[in-house]
Amino acid sequence: MTDPLFTPPFPQPTRNKRTMMQRFFIGWHSWIHVLFEKSYTMKMGEVRGRGQTMYIANELVLVDRILKGGTEFPKHHELVKGLWPLIGNSVFSANGEDWENQRAMVNPAFAHTALAKSMPLMAAAADAFLARIEAAGTDKSFDVDPMMTHVAADIIFRTLFSETLDLQRSAIIHKAFGRFQRYSHSASMLGLYGLPSRWFEKWSERPATAIRDVFRPIVTARFDAFHAGEPAQYKDILQSLVEAKHPETGAHFTLKELMDQVATIFLAGHETSASTMTWALYLLAECAHIQDRARAEVAQVAGEDPFTAAMLKDMPVVRNVFKETLRLYPPLAFFPREVPCPMQMRDKQLEPGAMLVVAPWLTQRNKDNWACPHAFDPDRFADPANAEMAKQAWFPFSRGPRVCVGAGFAQQEVMTVIAATLRRYRLTVAKGFKAEPISRLTVRPRKGMKLMFERV
Ligand code: HEM
Repeated sequence: MTDPLFTPPFPQPTRNKRTMMQRFFIGWHSWIHVLFEKSYTMKMGEVRGRGQTMYIANELVLVDRILKGGTEFPKHHELVKGLWPLIGNSVFSANGEDWENQRAMVNPAFAHTALAKSMPLMAAAADAFLARIEAAGTDKSFDVDPMMTHVAADIIFRTLFSETLDLQRSAIIHKAFGRFQRYSHSASMLGLYGLPSRWFEKWSERPATAIRDVFRPIVTARFDAFHAGEPAQYKDILQSLVEAKHPETGAHFTLKELMDQVATIFLAGHETSASTMTWALYLLAECAHIQDRARAEVAQVAGEDPFTAAMLKDMPVVRNVFKETLRLYPPLAFFPREVPCPMQMRDKQLEPGAMLVVAPWLTQRNKDNWACPHAFDPDRFADPANAEMAKQAWFPFSRGPRVCVGAGFAQQEVMTVIAATLRRYRLTVAKGFKAEPISRLTVRPRKGMKLMFERV
């Protein structure tokens, strides 16, 4: 007999659309709590706020058109404004030709060889995480949410800067980013409703500076050394960025530009992966039978040897857990784009400046695209009948020219952390703990994620 599928928590959609007031007050805490039943299956939706109209494109051909359109649909100005204190003008927030040039300068850092080189660093960071669990003792529950921030930020630190991240700086980052998300989310909500958002924008500057201050000395020292003509001591992502040349002018990044790119890669590269690791460990903790299969696969492929990229390729169960986690809990649940000029989409006449949203949270949980869409079923990615949907209705890393530059990196690090954890521990959810997702900039658990680790 096959085990019944587990349906992990998500906000139950209401039957009917909520009023504008309700949308505002509920959305103030979390975007995904505003959704109603039809949000998941509609082909195209329209939400009129006081300040801004928002269109949501769910139909697969529209999703494809918008994402493959790349710079034709720029990042929405509210998103750019909200992230500005933290990442400024960087490859994540730039548009048009400016973005094309920045992307050309950033790409080499993520070339395939850089990925292979980062494998031992990822494995070492995963070992450091396991050592922290072991040192703390396994007779109690752990909130893995900050721990996943630590391991993901540590991986980024090792690959970006060739440095490890200590507990103190990790705690500063976790706390500051939580505050930044709250203020920046509130500013976006007010902006969408045409209300003044200046205070929240101002408040978000302090945590953004606290995060940037963690790596400012490292970036400054490396920049100064390069421009003083000193020989390079490191071959890491930061060095690749310091040496990158503008494709037309040949100029290097200025210090401010470099700080913005580093902040982006640091933020985009650890917050999203940390969220994925947290949800993946939770889902495995809930589903002992899938956890056992994944553990057996890891034992068979890797034994007690250090993990390699080649080993990960031979772990389809772990890989499908990674994919299914991202289908259910895409860290970036909504991609807000801007309507560039008057245009028709389905029966709607879109006005320039309006927000046009593509939403993996909705498309990836749409019952017209996936069977049992809210259930955790990693094996669906092993079924050839789902191959077309996996191409069209699964895009946690986006698609087209603006696809995530770190998708391969993320898959490698998340699989490594899952595999390393399962090799040592059996995971269960702490007694009485109920997980709940909320969505601000990223999808994270509202009250942390309490798990138990028992030595296998
Ligand atoms: C599970 C982990 C990750 C997820 C789900 C994810 C998701 C995404 C998505 C959806 C976008 C496009 C957003 C949009 O179009 O509005 C994006 C862009 C980006 N991501 Fe990731 N990401 C992950 C990990 C990483 C990592 C590890 C790095 C770097 C080390 C990274 C760096 C970037 C950068 C630089 C961009 C901007 C690309 C551009 O606009 O040209 N991401 N990511």
